Amino acid sequence: MKNIIEIKNLTKKFGNFTAVDHINLKVQEGEIFGFLGPNGAGKTTTISMLTTLIRPTSGTAIISGHDLTTRGVNIRAIIGVVPQLFSLFPELTAKENLAYIGKLYGMNPSQIKERSEYLLKIIDLYDHRDRIADIFSGGMKQRLSLAAGIMSNPKILFMDEPTTGLDPQSRIAMRNLTKDLNKHGITIIYTTHDMEEAEKICDRISIMDAGKIIAEGTSEELKHMISKFHKIEIEIDSPSKEIISELKELPYITSVEISGPLIIVTVKEKDDVFHKLSEFLHKKHQKLLEIRFKEPTLEEVFIQLTKEELRD
Ligand SMILES: Nc1ncnc2c1ncn2[C@@H]1O[C@H](COP(=O)(O)OP(=O)(O)O)[C@@H](O)[C@H]1O
Ligand SMILES: [Mg+2]
Repeated sequence: MKNIIEIKNLTKKFGNFTAVDHINLKVQEGEIFGFLGPNGAGKTTTISMLTTLIRPTSGTAIISGHDLTTRGVNIRAIIGVVPQLFSLFPELTAKENLAYIGKLYGMNPSQIKERSEYLLKIIDLYDHRDRIADIFSGGMKQRLSLAAGIMSNPKILFMDEPTTGLDPQSRIAMRNLTKDLNKHGITIIYTTHDMEEAEKICDRISIMDAGKIIAEGTSEELKHMISKFHKIEIEIDSPSKEIISELKELPYITSVEISGPLIIVTVKEKDDVFHKLSEFLHKKHQKLLEIRFKEPTLEEVFIQLTKEELRD
């Protein structure tokens, strides 16, 4: 796999405040790469630098072979952006909004007509093409914003929290459109603060917090990272207080919780633990109905890594 983006020590300071702090990342051609992080993590600032909207304080990125700090013009020619805040002209119609972008990219009228009609159909706004953007719902605006982002047929598309504030149907529509685009070959950089969304849509995810990348990988890899404390779900016939406190005393168990009919134990070592637990329960005349590893959710990973600090 070829790296289409290589971020090298990218840093942005606003005065004394470091919004993005020496981040290093590689994005592969053809993937949907997610920046997942709480509000204020530095996602938009990173996107703004990568799309040449603001200049890095230090560091750089190589995007499709072009250095961000010296070849911004080459980068702008091959990228598209769906910004966090709508960037549409409210007084222009759907069609006119796309035509405007087409003109910016130097497309001729027939190219503009062909491309905008094609996109308006894809985003399901063809029947609304002559209505002004101002009267559109949030979902419609965001779909139009997506079409504007890909009007120039970019190689790389940056999408900054494209589903934030949308109703569930519109979110699903946006996600499906994003996946379809990706299947047609566009590399996508996708920011979100929603871990479920990141897990659903991204091939790889970097978790960003306070300007730093604190973890990176597929959602499976991220889950493995924190599974050094393995959770095991046990179902026995009738869990008693005695058995719970005896479980707590076992040397290889670090904690025991009750969740409905299940006992959830956390162990330090995965090896041989099913065997040890079954033997223990058998000795205590407990009928073991089920025992299995409990996978952490991406949310648990996220909370663990961002240390449960609330930000707004
Ligand atoms: N132009 C700016 N001037 C000063 N601080 C800024 C500016 N833009 C962003 N910040 C600060 O940088 C941090 C990261 O912001 P941002 O990149 O928008 O985060 P995110 O998109 O992850 O929510 C925040 O603390 C924000 O207040
Ligand atoms: Mg943001």
